Amino acid sequence: MNTEEQRSLALQPNASNSKGQLLDPQRLLDVTDGKIDREALEALAGQSILNPRQFDRRTVVALAQLAALLETRNVEMEKPLDGKIAITAFFEASTRTRLSFESALLRLDGKVLSVPDGQVTGIAKGESLADIGEMFNTYGDIVIMRHPDTNSIEEIQKNLQRPLINAGNGSGHHPTQALIDWYALLKWRPELCRPDCPPERRIHLGIIGTPGSMRAVKSFLRLSLMFAGAVSKITLVSEMADPVGLDLTEPIEQSPIPIEVTNDVQKVLKELDVVYVNSIAFLGDSYRNLDGRYKLELASDLKPGAVVMHPLARNDELSEDLDDTDHNLYFAQAAGAVFVRQALLVSVLQRLNRISDL
Ligand code: CP
Repeated sequence: MNTEEQRSLALQPNASNSKGQLLDPQRLLDVTDGKIDREALEALAGQSILNPRQFDRRTVVALAQLAALLETRNVEMEKPLDGKIAITAFFEASTRTRLSFESALLRLDGKVLSVPDGQVTGIAKGESLADIGEMFNTYGDIVIMRHPDTNSIEEIQKNLQRPLINAGNGSGHHPTQALIDWYALLKWRPELCRPDCPPERRIHLGIIGTPGSMRAVKSFLRLSLMFAGAVSKITLVSEMADPVGLDLTEPIEQSPIPIEVTNDVQKVLKELDVVYVNSIAFLGDSYRNLDGRYKLELASDLKPGAVVMHPLARNDELSEDLDDTDHNLYFAQAAGAVFVRQALLVSVLQRLNRISDL
């Protein structure tokens, strides 16, 4: 199938990315003959999703396969989230996370109470997040929150009794982004979901950034540690001597995956099968962008067949001249977000029974 045929296929029934790799979700379903681990999904019922450490490989694969099912089938007529109300409370800017959650909900017939900017709430008048959590108990069935403070999760949970999905908390975590990242990887190379992935298909994963202060990078690394049978090595490229941060030190020490840290991107780039890059590091109440020497572009010494991932938004670290190449997995990564978030919402809100053929 040529790229044009792939693209016209991808546009039905669900639109896909306009540039870069087009990923076929059916290949991910085929790897287990269409069987999806329903028990792993049912275990998410009523759960808050706060930190990727609460997942295991089995759950990540099950969510990815449900996402693939939702991407290949038009389930809107089944109205899976009919009668459910979600509150998307964003106290920090977002393009993808809020809108893909809201699209996921609306496409499944759920309803949305959207707070696109915390300054339109009582926060502007000094109201506490704990009090807002108390109000949310009667307004919705689930809360999806982004906040610049790492401790905002504990604060809202003082009173909130509904499931909470962490959509990014300061330099803490961004667990649903990590699920989206692995969904893209598993669609790109479906055999990575096998515990016994053939050695020649395992990936050397490069992560450019500082997990300790970059929540998307941290969550992606945490989830990647669960795929010991798929990841042959992880190379962290960072300008910091100790880029990992306290909460990942122990999981890294316990992981069988060899992990190397370097600040020389040129030395390692041509060895990497997957290059994950992010730009924004959170430093208390401010943030800063990645150092210019880590920029990826068409002229970079990428391995043939290597893919570049980025949670976006990008700045100068990722050149647009890579967009039209097969190195571009980042647009496909973003395009999968709606389906992963649908899979998660249907599981947490206990509506798996509304998806026929599951
Ligand atoms: N990937 C991501 O979190 O993007 P937004 O900041 O636009 O939500």
